[in-house]
Amino acid sequence: MSEQITVVAEVRRHDPSQGGEPHYQRFEVTGVDSMRVLDVIRSIYEQQAGDLAYQFACRVGRCGTCAVKVNGVPVLACQERCKPEMRIEPLTPFPVLRDLVVDRSEVETRYAALKLSPQRSCAHPGAPEPIDPALAEKLCHLDLCLACMVCVSACPAVAERPFDGPAFMLKLRHMALHPADSADRLPQALEAGMLECFNCDLCTQLCPADLSPAQAVRDFRRQMIFGKGKP
Ligand code: SF4
Ligand code: SF4
Ligand code: FES
Repeated sequence: MSEQITVVAEVRRHDPSQGGEPHYQRFEVTGVDSMRVLDVIRSIYEQQAGDLAYQFACRVGRCGTCAVKVNGVPVLACQERCKPEMRIEPLTPFPVLRDLVVDRSEVETRYAALKLSPQRSCAHPGAPEPIDPALAEKLCHLDLCLACMVCVSACPAVAERPFDGPAFMLKLRHMALHPADSADRLPQALEAGMLECFNCDLCTQLCPADLSPAQAVRDFRRQMIFGKGKP
């Protein structure tokens, strides 16, 4: 049976359009001990601070829109269990629109520029194309990426070096493996800063979809050495 708990949340507040400096506002929230961070944020919005800006859509870990930092660690707010004391901040390194809402337009522009869907060299035959079942399973798994940017936020190389980040490496690898994709993804990965990754695996540890962008980088590096693109 769930118990009632009270948690303390310090939420970063800032509206850059109004100027002023960011500050932290302290709230206490009472609820069931299985509360997620998003439940705490929603409660604050509904009961204590109706002007708090935050975002979410699915509440089941599928849309990727609710990502925030909790005590410095990027997480999906709808999946992360709340802690007794939490500092809740918008996802770095993205520009803040207001409070916990960040501007993802640069991410979307980059996804579009990299053409992260299969680039066919000839028209679709109009009928299902045969595919190796093991490869199909692998592609389906890679397709689980939510584009939540948790991995990009956690990546120390993104913070220090010219590197688009792990989410892009994962998606480029997904396309590199896709039999319908004829684009050369390795040069794109290199241009996006792949060699700046120093293999710390933090992206993999934090990915809420249980994916490994770090492995995607390792696979590209193997391709560089052994020259093997498609499986
Ligand atoms: S690889 Fe994982 S952490 Fe990174 S964007 Fe995709 S789902 Fe999010
Ligand atoms: S393994 Fe590479 S891409 Fe992943 S967090 Fe570390 S430096 Fe970033
Ligand atoms: S609300 Fe969709 S992933 Fe959290």
